[in-house]
Amino acid sequence: MTKIDFEKPINDLLLSIEKKYPPKLFSAIKYAVGSGGKRIRPTLCFLSADFCDVPRKNALSFALAIELIHSYSLIHDDLPCMDNDVLRRGKPTVHVAFGEATALLAGDALLNLAFETLFSAAKTNSDLLPACELIAECAGGQGMIGGQALEFENERFSEEDLFILDKKKTGMLIKCAILSPAYLSGSPEKTSALSSFADYAGLAFQLSDDLIDADKEEKTSFVTVCGKEKTKSMLLSLREKARLALSKWPGENEALYAFFDKLAFRNN
Ligand code: IPE
Ligand code: IPE
Ligand code: MG
Ligand code: MG
Repeated sequence: MTKIDFEKPINDLLLSIEKKYPPKLFSAIKYAVGSGGKRIRPTLCFLSADFCDVPRKNALSFALAIELIHSYSLIHDDLPCMDNDVLRRGKPTVHVAFGEATALLAGDALLNLAFETLFSAAKTNSDLLPACELIAECAGGQGMIGGQALEFENERFSEEDLFILDKKKTGMLIKCAILSPAYLSGSPEKTSALSSFADYAGLAFQLSDDLIDADKEEKTSFVTVCGKEKTKSMLLSLREKARLALSKWPGENEALYAFFDKLAFRNN
């Protein structure tokens, strides 16, 4: 797999806004986005672009916007009114380091920056517009935000409820990372196959997250509801389905297969 250099585009973007934002707001944004994340969504976006023969530079605005949205979602997710977490990536969360008001605003600013990035790219290439709309849908009330909201709208969750919740909360951002380059491919067959692959990858990522956090006994964890062994066997079955979805393209599917395994069978 070609190494994905995502740090340079992120740093360039940060440099371009540094002088325009109030200093504390900028510092909080840099703290959240600058380093420490695994960059899973941008990596998936570029691997999907490779699979679809779409130049990575055409998918760059998607990868950037999705990582910015992901970063904002984590800042807000950690707030006292949400999960009330004090540590992320081994460091104090943004509201602990910068205060709640700045954390809230840093999240808001990141979401806006994501859409500025998309609009700015689509202004000169209108072919990008359908994927931009997809990203907005996946990040919003029918997608990631909808999944976050469901956590607060119920007390108990069945296995079925969790499939729906995780598909939205975690799956939809992973889905648009994989699917946005496919929208530029002109191949309905690959787009449809990647859509299935993305569903399995999103769910597998959340199941592996639940296994890593098994000790927390969260009410929305598959491990809490189904137990460790069943969660592990669900992961194996998702792996089979994901491989089947792209099996028509031997040779081209290897990087995505390998990255699926990294997502599904990881320790952090
Ligand atoms: C964590 O996502 C939140 C979930 C959606 C499970 P990541 O594990 O991708 O977070 P970072 O960016 O690598 O810290
Ligand atoms: C975070 O989910 C999902 C989003 C921010 C959309 P979790 O709350 O389960 O993830 P962690 O454990 O805080 O990373
Ligand atoms: Mg949460
Ligand atoms: Mg959380």
